[in-house]
Amino acid sequence: MTETSAPTHFHVETDSDNIVWLHFDKADAGTNILSAEVFDQLDQHLAQIATQNPRGLVILSDKANGFIAGADISVFTRIETPEQALPFLHRGQEVFNRLEALPFPTVALIHGFCLGGGTELSLACRYRVTRDDPGTRMGLPEVKLGIHPGWGGSARLVPLVGGLKAMDLILSGRTVDGRTGKRMGLVDAVAPERHLRAAARKLVLDSPPAHQPGWLDRVSNNALVRPLLARVFSQQVAKRAPGNHYPSPYAMIDIWRRHANDKRRMLEAEAQSLARLMNGATARNLVRVFFLQEQLKALGKDQCYQPRYVHVIGAGTMGGDIAAWCAFSGFQVSLQDQSPERVAPAMKRAHALFVRKLKRPNKITAAMDRLMPDHKGTGVERADIIIEAIFEDADVKRSLYRDIEPRMKPDALLATNTSSIPLEELASVLSRPERLVGLHFFNPVAMMQLVEVVTGQATSTEVAARAMTFTRQIDRLPLPVTSTPGFLVNRILMPYLMEAVLLEAEGIPPAVIDKAATDFGMPMGPVQLADTVGLDICLHVAEILASHFNAEVPASLKQRVADGHLGRKSGRGFYRYKKGKPLKVKTTAGSWNMDEISNRLIDRLLNEAVSCLREDVVENKDLLDAGMIFGTGFAPFRGGPLHYIDAVGAETLVRQLQSLKALRGERFTPDPGWNSLIQSEGGTTA
Ligand code: NAI
Repeated sequence: MTETSAPTHFHVETDSDNIVWLHFDKADAGTNILSAEVFDQLDQHLAQIATQNPRGLVILSDKANGFIAGADISVFTRIETPEQALPFLHRGQEVFNRLEALPFPTVALIHGFCLGGGTELSLACRYRVTRDDPGTRMGLPEVKLGIHPGWGGSARLVPLVGGLKAMDLILSGRTVDGRTGKRMGLVDAVAPERHLRAAARKLVLDSPPAHQPGWLDRVSNNALVRPLLARVFSQQVAKRAPGNHYPSPYAMIDIWRRHANDKRRMLEAEAQSLARLMNGATARNLVRVFFLQEQLKALGKDQCYQPRYVHVIGAGTMGGDIAAWCAFSGFQVSLQDQSPERVAPAMKRAHALFVRKLKRPNKITAAMDRLMPDHKGTGVERADIIIEAIFEDADVKRSLYRDIEPRMKPDALLATNTSSIPLEELASVLSRPERLVGLHFFNPVAMMQLVEVVTGQATSTEVAARAMTFTRQIDRLPLPVTSTPGFLVNRILMPYLMEAVLLEAEGIPPAVIDKAATDFGMPMGPVQLADTVGLDICLHVAEILASHFNAEVPASLKQRVADGHLGRKSGRGFYRYKKGKPLKVKTTAGSWNMDEISNRLIDRLLNEAVSCLREDVVENKDLLDAGMIFGTGFAPFRGGPLHYIDAVGAETLVRQLQSLKALRGERFTPDPGWNSLIQSEGGTTA
């Protein structure tokens, strides 16, 4: 069909009812994505099909994992100006306009993911049919990449379901399953796999009127109502995405407010605005974060390692939640602690997690069946992976290892969740130290995506690779780090938290310190973060790091812990808590030097990041940035600490550190690692 030698991405089947089934099966790819080449071929097929005058057209995917995952994001990285972006955007719009204008019924037959450009394609069809399962998800998640739809996603969704529902979907970036889609008017029919094609055929043959929004949905698009709603949308968005850092949702609201009743104008506004956003720093950095995530996901992918049985020792805060997460992910798990009473609270928490995540009773029961309380530790003999999460005490851990090693299967992995003890100190009692690896989870386990995979001097390459594969199997992101004090994330985070403690001791209100950090783009301020982690845990890690790096732990932190003010869990830390929420005293930020507060916090974090890079705690800059974004939520729109250093300039930041050192003390001494960063910028070092 195509004149070029490009691989074929589509094939056509015409059935006895004269319905054309256009199969999308992107060549040499596991997933369907939209590229310039795909648009060209789709366009040619649509032109050809139009001349056939069929009864109808059904577009479907031959990929098992889903319909269409969206646009080819790598294109973004090659576009350098809005002028270069516009032809790509207009081309997609042109092809979808052609699809929409076809004079016969058109159906998108959707299974698995249908995201971004995939949903936009489906909106250009007259009907959408989805498979009835929780894994089938539609959405326009572009805001998560700092952009918004540009191939008619908003221009077509708004008249279909009304402004309220359309904006909710686009501004949140959330996805919906078929049933939810049907309730909101996005989806016309939902069917189990075996009836999917029949449901699509029926729509073509019956050709019912296309979905029309209800009265209330139409009102939300009214020209008099829009300015009011636009204000409400902006206020809601501002709570999670300030406009100076995340411009795309505000641009979307503006387009809707101005053009909701005029599809042609809205299409053009989408393209123009998206072309600008794609070239902004936020979108570039969020696209970078997307690729960093892909990099982490790819680690350990090549291993054909299939563990089945996980044994967790220590049913406390971490071990209990790790065991629950592994059972949730489909593993057979046993959970050991010193007594049944210590395991019981973890089982209760696991049940709550399953209820929250799995919803359906049969699935909850199946997950509970996979998690066995095992205070006697009989699971040690059967386990493929043993995860140790007992007290942070090297002697206690060593004594446990002595006891369990003789009972372990020969090829079993021994993983420790230690947050600070070097693996070498623990491995000394093992007869096969190559089996010991660190799997450092973060609290809360169910929310934090990152797991540091720690290799000690004796850890074998095979064991490290297996640990990474396992981390992916439980849907977490593995970050390979060396066994150095604090590994990567805690080591970089701690100077930042300690600077916050010092600022507070100087009399600056916690809410002001936290505001300086959230204004920079952190998801939560350092004072609130310390309270949330627990001041006792912060103190413990800070003391260990201080002993290694010859630093001081602020006296006010020690005092708070001595007084039993441990943070949110004790109802009082730096803040007082009511129903788990900090009571923030209102202060006028204007009376404080916010820039200096922010610089003091961020510069210490950056300085430690540079130090970790110099010491090769991780292999490269990308992994360091990924660790800080996925392990701490470091302002994603800034692309990570090292990327931020590149953007501001290492020389500028070193000057800032030097003046802070003169003003505030030795802790701001620039790390020697800055020199190589300055040299790579082409600058000269002092
Ligand atoms: P925790 O004090 O809540 O729980 C430890 C559990 O281990 C207790 O239930 C205790 O009864 C049990 N235990 C102690 N010795 C045992 C033994 N010989 N056999 C069986 N069970 C035993 O401690 P948490 O906070 O869960 O920490 C556990 C490990 O995870 C530590 O190494 C810690 O450094 C690390 N970690 C903690 C984080 C946190 O935020 N709490 C974050 C990341 C790592």
